[in-house]
Amino acid sequence: MVKYDVNDSYFDHKHGVLINKLGIKDPEELQSREKDCLVKAYKKAAEKFSENHVFSEKDVCDIHKLFLGDLYDWAGKYRTVDLSSENIRFCHAAYIKNHMKDFSIALEALTPLTPFSEDLNKEQILARLGKIHGELIIIHPFRDGNGRFTRLLCDLLLMQANYLPMAVSEFYNTDFAKKYHEAIHEVWRAVDYSKLISLFDPLVSR
Ligand SMILES: Nc1ncnc2c1ncn2[C@@H]1O[C@H](COP(=O)(O)OP(=O)(O)OP(=O)(O)O)[C@@H](O)[C@H]1O
Ligand SMILES: [Mg+2]
Repeated sequence: MVKYDVNDSYFDHKHGVLINKLGIKDPEELQSREKDCLVKAYKKAAEKFSENHVFSEKDVCDIHKLFLGDLYDWAGKYRTVDLSSENIRFCHAAYIKNHMKDFSIALEALTPLTPFSEDLNKEQILARLGKIHGELIIIHPFRDGNGRFTRLLCDLLLMQANYLPMAVSEFYNTDFAKKYHEAIHEVWRAVDYSKLISLFDPLVSR
C-alpha cells in the first residue's frame, strides 16, 4: 500500500511499488516478500543480539538492514527524502543524523546494564518502551519499514527483560492501528507518550 505522498527515485509510480532488488512490480507480491523478510529478521536478530546486548545507533541501522536488506539498496541507510503521512510530518531528512545521535545518547542513558533489565517493573518498562518507540517513529530514519523495524527492536528489548514480544498482529487490526496513529500523533504534537504507553500496556506481559 502506498502510504506516502512522496515523489522520489526509489518509487516506481507506474506499478505502485518501491524499486527493489528482485525487480518485483506487483505490490501484493512485494508485500508478501516483505512479510517473509520480517519473519526471518525476527529469527536472525534473536540470534545476533545477546540477552544483555546494549543497542547502539549502528544496531538500529543493522536491524533495519537485517529486515529489508535483501529487497532494497537503501536498507539500513538514513533516508534522503522528506516524508509525511496524513496529518503528520516526519523529521526533515537533513536532520535525521543529528536526531539519531540524540536518540542513541538517550538510549544509552537508559542503560545501566541493558535498557530493559529484568529488575525494572512493568511501569518503568512501559515508560521506556513508549519513549524509544515514539521517538524512533517520529524520526522515521528510513525510507520505509520504520513501523515494523521499530516493533522488532522493541520486542528484542522486551525479551531482554524476560517479557514476551508484543503481538505483531494487533498492529494490523484497523481499530488498533487508528489508536496507534493517534498515539504517535501525540508524541509528534506534544512530546506526550501517555497514549502510546496506555495502548501498549495490555500487549506487554511476562
Ligand atoms: N498518519 C499517521 N499518524 C501517526 N503515525 C503514523 C501515521 N502514518 C504512519 N505512522 C507511523 O509510521 C509507521 C509507518 O512507517 P513506515 O511505512 O516506514 O513503516 P512500515 O513498517 O512500512 O509500516 P507499518 O507500521 O504500517 O507496517 C507506522 O507504524 C506508524 O508508527
Ligand atoms: Mg510502509
